[in-house]
Amino acid sequence: MKKVEAIVRPEKFEEVKDALQKIDVHGITVSQVMGCGHQKGQVESVRGVDVEISMNSKIKFEIVVSTDEWAEKTIKVIQEVACTGNIGDGKIFVYDLEDVVRIRTGERGVKAI
Ligand SMILES: Nc1ncnc2c1ncn2[C@@H]1O[C@H](COP(=O)(O)OP(=O)(O)OP(=O)(O)O)[C@@H](O)[C@H]1O
Ligand SMILES: [Mg+2]
Repeated sequence: MKKVEAIVRPEKFEEVKDALQKIDVHGITVSQVMGCGHQKGQVESVRGVDVEISMNSKIKFEIVVSTDEWAEKTIKVIQEVACTGNIGDGKIFVYDLEDVVRIRTGERGVKAI
């Protein structure tokens, strides 16, 4: 099992969500987060306006999938859809996931995804 965590531009939220649903990825957690990458404290484009700020508003997607193949599919879709080619496009972090528990039934692992 893999966990794919993607930090993307807020304006890409709908597009990424729709693209994930299209490839049949279910089970998505989304949060509004603040963060900075390499351009901390430098000028970055926010909704088309250049401003100097140290933290940017981003959207975090967390997706758990059963196999490496699904993880690659998920990563590919997010990268394609979330990329504008400009700084601040975001990042995708990929983790090995140890276990999952479905609270309602007590099922574990892949069965619980
Ligand atoms: N090393 C990191 N650790 C944790 N979060 C990060 C890291 N790098 C980026 N992020 C998160 O991703 C968001 C977007 O990062 P960003 O795309 O600006 O990365 P970057 O490395 O500066 O690349 P770019 O040069 O394309 O801007 C940040 O606001 C932050 O929330
Ligand atoms: Mg950056």
